[in-house]
Amino acid sequence: MAIMDKHQKLERHSLLLTVGILVVVAIGGLVEIAPLFYLENTIEKVQGMRPYTPLELKGRNIYIREGCYTCHSQMVRPLRDEVERYGHYSLAAESMYDHPFQWGSKRTGPDLARVGGKYSDEWHLDHLKDPKSVVPDSIMPPYAFLAKKRLKYDDIEDHLKALRLAGVPYTDDMIANAKADLVAQASPNADFDAEDALVARYTEASGRVGTVKISDFDHNPQAVTEMDALIAYLQMTGTLVDFSTYEANDLSNRR
Ligand code: HEC
Repeated sequence: MAIMDKHQKLERHSLLLTVGILVVVAIGGLVEIAPLFYLENTIEKVQGMRPYTPLELKGRNIYIREGCYTCHSQMVRPLRDEVERYGHYSLAAESMYDHPFQWGSKRTGPDLARVGGKYSDEWHLDHLKDPKSVVPDSIMPPYAFLAKKRLKYDDIEDHLKALRLAGVPYTDDMIANAKADLVAQASPNADFDAEDALVARYTEASGRVGTVKISDFDHNPQAVTEMDALIAYLQMTGTLVDFSTYEANDLSNRR
């Protein structure tokens, strides 16, 4: 057949074959990769997403500092066993404000993308201080020292500003009030005006009520500790998008 003859020509000339392969791979690459540079197309807009509050952001930094990502992923894949265990698969929008993202590649422990709200603050406090006290077979290391370390947050405004440069929509108001917001989130019933202001700021950003949790996360009203920040962060993971009302546009027919 004529087409086979032509193919024979390609196969017998290594240079021609190499050029041919390059052309085909380049077309494939363009089709698959080029759209990713236009993030508006890639990340579906989802209601509920907001930037991290200052306390959550500090907690996230501790999560990274302590290397929690070496044992925990934060991405639920769209596979049945994962969705049944962890909940709705992760959306691109859910990590759109993450710099750096924490998807991870190792699961010595469970995925944490949706651990927010799964347990009480007390459970997290006990678990982080001594994992075996609540999960007897746990091999997770203890992090009791976090409860003794006062949180350092002198630099929190700068941190918000840096993230704004990277595209996270922190407002001037959020930056100016970062310290007050941080303290308010870990100090319930101390200053109601500050609490209301914090909730208003971040509720407006998310377009959804009830996404800011105010609590004395570490049960120590005397100080804002690193434990407060870490638990505040864990308790918000995966809670921003309301999946009872969320409908996937194009993903639903891919499953
Ligand atoms: C050496 C690996 C390892 C490291 C490091 C590690 N963990 Fe874990 N983690 C585990 C294992 C294993 C489990 C499951 C047993 C348990 O619940 O303790 C777990 C469970 C958890 C759970 C409960 C998840 C669930 O859905 O039940 C949370 C929350 C958690 N880890 C948070 C953290 C945080 C925060 C850090 C960093 C400060 C951290 N882990 C560091 C191994 C690790």
